[in-house]
Amino acid sequence: MSDLAKMQAAAAALEFVEDGMLIGLGTGSTANHFIRMLGDRVAEGLNVGGLPTSEASRRLAQQVGVPLIEIDQADRIDLTIDGADEIDPDFRLLKGGGGALLREKIIAHASDVMIVIADDSKTVTTLGKFPLPVEVTPFGFTITAKKVFDVLRAAGCAGTDVAMREAGAPGRPYLTDNGNYILDCQCGAIPDADLVCQELNRIPGVMENGIFPLFASTTRGLILGSEDGVVIKGLG
Ligand code: A5P
Repeated sequence: MSDLAKMQAAAAALEFVEDGMLIGLGTGSTANHFIRMLGDRVAEGLNVGGLPTSEASRRLAQQVGVPLIEIDQADRIDLTIDGADEIDPDFRLLKGGGGALLREKIIAHASDVMIVIADDSKTVTTLGKFPLPVEVTPFGFTITAKKVFDVLRAAGCAGTDVAMREAGAPGRPYLTDNGNYILDCQCGAIPDADLVCQELNRIPGVMENGIFPLFASTTRGLILGSEDGVVIKGLG
């Protein structure tokens, strides 16, 4: 999908940023456009504090001059702007293709408003075609992977293939910013995403999973970009 579509969505999200806000900074190529554009606005005098959802986003924000807040100096966040791998008709998300799902979910859940920015290819009728990432502790990950498989099967997912994400060399685990592993699950289709999210997080070795249900205390909006412009949903 074209970079222009992602840039259109990122630029539209800037309109929701107000002076003095604490802003959650997402991870991924679409969020990167937003962080660069936010840096331009800061250079023009905008005053915000950024809370990055990954070390990659932290580095980019530092490069482009977005002032950062240490995560433990904030107990709430005004607005988070982040991308997604899939978005369903009720604005549930599948995220974590970039491996940042745990920090992304902590930041999103603490935000008054989360605006999802994406190109229009990310909308789906049912989550699960994109592999669902599950962040797990290295200790006992084979046991955890079997429990994850069992949950997906019991929930009636079309596929139940669970594979450790690798990086660098075959067999070498990808490590998240938190020092954990990622299991990528080829679900095909997830019939009840809220149930799967809840059941996966009941497994002791699971730190988080990439299904983002709606959060009661967070307004979720969507900005879908295309080469022709944007469509904004759920933001009044
Ligand atoms: C990062 O872990 C993900 O949740 C990203 O938000 C997601 O993969 C979207 O990335 P792109 O904007 O690069 O498509």
